[in-house]
Amino acid sequence: MSAPVDTTDIFKKDIFAGKVVLVSGGGSGICRGLTEALLRHGAKAAIVSRTFSKLEKAAKEMSAATGGPVLPVAADVRKPEQVEAAVAKTVETYGRIDFLINGAAGNFLAPFEGLSYNAFRTVIEIDTLGTFNFTKAALPHLKASKGAVLNISATLHYTGKAFQLHVGAAKAAIDALTTHWAVELGPHGIRVNGISPGLIADTEGANRLAANFNEAAVPLQRVGKIKDVEQSALFLFSEAANYITGVTLVVDGGQWLNSGNHDYPNSILNFVGRTKSKM
Ligand code: COA
Repeated sequence: MSAPVDTTDIFKKDIFAGKVVLVSGGGSGICRGLTEALLRHGAKAAIVSRTFSKLEKAAKEMSAATGGPVLPVAADVRKPEQVEAAVAKTVETYGRIDFLINGAAGNFLAPFEGLSYNAFRTVIEIDTLGTFNFTKAALPHLKASKGAVLNISATLHYTGKAFQLHVGAAKAAIDALTTHWAVELGPHGIRVNGISPGLIADTEGANRLAANFNEAAVPLQRVGKIKDVEQSALFLFSEAANYITGVTLVVDGGQWLNSGNHDYPNSILNFVGRTKSKM
């Protein structure tokens, strides 16, 4: 199976020149990768999370790595007034917002019985309300630019993954926001899509959640890379996707399709082997 490729080999370097992207959760993990990919293709970025010192360091590194400007803005996505201030700061700095990535998320493994009332509410607030808050606050600017929104989802709720009830519920609601916004905001020229990454290596999520990940169980036979998600995000923001809205694109090498078949990969290969030997 081929490795993910450098996006500069696929997309024109300046396809997002003049565009401004606002990214919650943009200082780390998958969303940092998506932001850097947009910067490499000409965009300017504002990244938002709770801790300014971490964000400021990330912004400097991201700018040095890509040559694009990165504005760090501290805000808790659960607090509408802080979200509105982050949107205002972005517009004050760059004059517009073209793209919004709703990526801020909280996650941990916890069985339903061990999930406190506050734990469930916390993840719903960060993921779902955070997505709602940012999109609501950025809407006037997205209308002005006829922009695009990308919501980061997950595949957990497709199958009912154990110990991930809180995140599955939050992401299912985010998928609903994606389709409802696509319908309501399409007439304003705003496209709203989502990406559901599978397990992606070198992210906090993977470090926390994936002790026993089995690459052989992935139909495409490897764990995901941040670059895999970057490529899909660049496509969805690009003019190549200008007739696509309301879609949540799964970027997981087929992981979730095979996630209920823990013991099968070897037996499938053995079966294929036996079939071949008889042909
Ligand atoms: N298991 C069970 N409950 C947990 C937990 C865990 N591993 N981690 C946090 N909680 C509970 C807390 O106990 C608390 O509930 P309580 O008040 O009833 O005790 C509630 O969740 C809120 O936790 P708290 O740490 O006070 O909230 P916070 O807003 O500071 O941070 C998270 C919450 C989810 C953001 C934090 O746990 C975190 O940093 N997660 C990692 C972020 C991450 O992995 N991002 C990548 C997403 S893929």
